[in-house]
Amino acid sequence: MLLLTWSALSTVLVGLIIPRLTAADTATSRAQVALDTLQTWYNATSGLWDTCGWWNGANCMTVIADLAAIDPSVSDTANYVFDNTLRMAPAHNPNPGPENQVHSRDGVAANSSEWLDSAYDDDAWWALAWIAAYDVTNDDTYLGLAQGIFSSLTKAWGTRCGGGGLQWSSTSSYINAITNELFLTVAAHLANRASSDSERDTYIGWAQKEWDWFAAQGFIGSNYTINDGLLDNCQNNGQTVWSYNQGVILGGLVELNRAAPNDTYLESANKIAQAAIMTLSDANLVIHDVCEPNCAPDATQFKGIFIRNLHMLHQDSPNDLYKKVIEACANSIWEYDRNYLNQLGVNWAGLVASIDASTHSSALDALVAAVTI
Ligand SMILES: *[C@@H]1O[C@H](CO)[C@@H](O)[C@H](O)[C@H]1NC(C)=O
Ligand SMILES: *[C@@H]1O[C@H](CO)[C@@H](O)[C@H](O)[C@H]1NC(C)=O
Ligand SMILES: *[C@@H]1O[C@H](CO)[C@@H](O)[C@H](O)[C@H]1NC(C)=O
Ligand SMILES: *[C@@H]1O[C@H](CO)[C@@H](O)[C@H](O)[C@H]1NC(C)=O
Repeated sequence: MLLLTWSALSTVLVGLIIPRLTAADTATSRAQVALDTLQTWYNATSGLWDTCGWWNGANCMTVIADLAAIDPSVSDTANYVFDNTLRMAPAHNPNPGPENQVHSRDGVAANSSEWLDSAYDDDAWWALAWIAAYDVTNDDTYLGLAQGIFSSLTKAWGTRCGGGGLQWSSTSSYINAITNELFLTVAAHLANRASSDSERDTYIGWAQKEWDWFAAQGFIGSNYTINDGLLDNCQNNGQTVWSYNQGVILGGLVELNRAAPNDTYLESANKIAQAAIMTLSDANLVIHDVCEPNCAPDATQFKGIFIRNLHMLHQDSPNDLYKKVIEACANSIWEYDRNYLNQLGVNWAGLVASIDASTHSSALDALVAAVTI
């Protein structure tokens, strides 16, 4: 008779089962699986992701680049997307400039004006996406697109509130936080990728000018959360504390601090990050936006943007709280917010019906952040 004690049996089982589970379910393999799922929405004809919009597409491309930067096994997918999106997506710009009505990209040099849709935040998302593509390819074409987009944004620098800042779009007078946070972060990113000292100083100058202006306006409330924008009289409008508005500024200050070190940048970033976590996380440290579960089509993207930027802050100013938040979000998404097709939803604490390429790519940001935490 073979008598196997429980502990002997579990040793056998552990030996057999655990390695397989580990191989199939690491932070990296989760992100890889979710990348494959994201690409089921990628439309080779449009160079964008079906079920989500133009600016969301920039964020889909960014998260793919961010994964490729830490996992070379996905670089073929990433390079294919950069190349195809560069050629195909401009024809699907929802609001191209008047001079840009005819799109025939094949064989024509990349032109940053094709990525402008008159909403300055949208333009800046594409600048960040091309910077992320540049970071993993070193292809100057991509950096040039971002530089060209930024150059056009500088022409929108305003004079109304405190003599500066950008309004939301060429047709909206709303001065909102996201447009200005994006302007700051694109400038700071470009400073760290400049090819000469004078170019670098120009970008640093814009980033500092934006930050000094931003901090002097009413965007940041007394508890360090950032509201959506300013009233016509330039006061804080008290509108929703969206997660992405607590996020983009973090990456901007991290990049600015890398370009032109000043302790106040990371001090401010840490205050904003901690206020955001206090305000937006649930008892399990999972981040939420108030719109859940009906966040389409824009706010579905926000939380991933927050986590992507919190991860940047954690790299330069590590904090166990940030690590816990990123891991809590990634684990909760994988356990509770994933359907049988490995599609990821809008409520990271639990699966709800609304799933699209935006909810999915946003959740993928958290899975990617968890790979290098
Ligand atoms: C892909 O994009 C093209 C161009 O916009 C569109 O005509 C087509 O319907 C899209 N495919 C799917 C499956 O949505
Ligand atoms: C980019 O495209 C715009 C609009 O078509 C055009 O006016 C401009 O000259 C182009 N720039 C370059 C460098 O080709
Ligand atoms: C650091 O940044 C703060 C805020 O922008 C500014 O007031 C201060 O002068 C800067 N310090 C130095 C040494 O540049
Ligand atoms: C901070 O202030 C905002 C309002 O601007 C509010 O929504 C949020 O709940 C506050 N956070 C905390 C932790 O009190």
